[in-house]
Amino acid sequence: MSISVKDNGAGASHELALIAAHSHIQGLGLDANLQPKTAAANSQGMVGQLKARRAMGVIQKMITEGKIAGRAILLTGPPSTGKTALAMGLAQALGANIPFTSITGSEIFSKEISKTEALTQFFRKSIGVTIKEETELIEGEVVEISIDRSLTGGHQQGKLTIKTTDMETIYELGHKMIEQLTKAKVIAGDIISIDKASGKISRMGRSFARARDYDAMGSDVQFLQCPEGELQTRKTTTHDISLHEIDVINSRSQGFLAIFSGDTGEIPSQVRDQINTKIAEWKEESKADINPGVLFIDECHMLDIECFSFINRALESELAPIVIMATNKGISRTRGTNYTSPHGLPMDLIDRSIIIQTQPYGQEELASILAIRAIEEEVELATEAVQLLTKIAVETSLRYAANLISVSSQIASKRKSKIVELNDVKRSYMLFLDAGRSVGFLEEFATQYIDDGGKVRISQDEDKMDTSA
Ligand SMILES: Nc1ncnc2c1ncn2[C@@H]1O[C@H](COP(=O)(O)OP(=O)(O)O)[C@@H](O)[C@H]1O
Ligand SMILES: [Mg+2]
Repeated sequence: MSISVKDNGAGASHELALIAAHSHIQGLGLDANLQPKTAAANSQGMVGQLKARRAMGVIQKMITEGKIAGRAILLTGPPSTGKTALAMGLAQALGANIPFTSITGSEIFSKEISKTEALTQFFRKSIGVTIKEETELIEGEVVEISIDRSLTGGHQQGKLTIKTTDMETIYELGHKMIEQLTKAKVIAGDIISIDKASGKISRMGRSFARARDYDAMGSDVQFLQCPEGELQTRKTTTHDISLHEIDVINSRSQGFLAIFSGDTGEIPSQVRDQINTKIAEWKEESKADINPGVLFIDECHMLDIECFSFINRALESELAPIVIMATNKGISRTRGTNYTSPHGLPMDLIDRSIIIQTQPYGQEELASILAIRAIEEEVELATEAVQLLTKIAVETSLRYAANLISVSSQIASKRKSKIVELNDVKRSYMLFLDAGRSVGFLEEFATQYIDDGGKVRISQDEDKMDTSA
């Protein structure tokens, strides 16, 4: 069974991706020496942030070389400085063979399972296993099939003559093989493949040499050359799967369909222990490779002390992915404790992390990012519109300015213009508040909003009304 290892949408099936916040990011925009490219045209959607991109390039290299399982990397920096974008860029750069799981800190609280079980599942989703299977096959062109039916009808015997360009052999057929050959409608001139272990027969196509024998072949018939060399061949097939998928398949209460529903429940630790032992065995025997991938935890300040200590311990285990966390918190309180620490992470976890910092953008970089976003959203901006959006980005936030692109484009299309002009941006700026203005407004009219205690005052002269009842 071959099951896709990537299930988080980060980079999988890019063609189908909707326009999302990071859909313009196609990689880290690095050259062969892992140095950031600066020209907007070939930097995979990435603008500036050179130091952090260079650092991510080093991480990328170490991951692909399998050198840094069990490490933690912390992305820190103010909001809207590209922390999430960098992680998405890394996911793309790593390609489909390395598992990359992307979650947000708060996600583990919304599951019906315990926090640590949720984290364990995300950890194990981020570790890929390549299982190698050696199969012995007989592959060749069928020369003749002869089946003797005994008169009583009970016992069947037969012979299969099969050849390559170099040799021809006759095999005795048991009644199971005969049944399969009849079912697959194999006739002389077919190229077939027989799995020696399971006896499974697959019809691969028809020999070119026999192409003329039948005029009335369906168009779906594939013509192949008669195989060369030995009749018996060995093939290695590989299956990529994540540890979590193996867990689900083997946890008896769930069954493998749970992979698709995502409703996996708690998986007993005995199941995981058995699987770990088995995988270690297979690794010894070179039947399996373990590919530690990446678990990206965005907004990691949402985690609490229990989660952090779990992560700390999990990183020490033999089967650990690389954990990349991102936060915009400075010195703050760790959830579930009363003490503050840098980035709200407990000291022992900070200690084991490599920290990559993102810097606020300059005006030019903001303008480039906004221009890229406009192309991504297929919106054409007039020069003045870009300038105003950039000014808005400088004074409020990049995210807010980026959001105004699609709103302005709506306003432009209402007046049947294909190009977003200065006034369209102005109007959308007036219609939709940024956080700063919203806070100002709230402070001015605080009494008209429902407060934490459920109290609200409809008009200035009325007393506070109680809506909490
Ligand atoms: N260096 C960059 N190049 C291109 N786009 C970027 C860059 N940095 C940020 N962005 C885009 O700006 C927006 C905000 O960045 P984001 O990564 O969400 O910030 P953060 O996670 O640091 O709060 C996103 O749409 C992101 O894709
Ligand atoms: Mg972010």
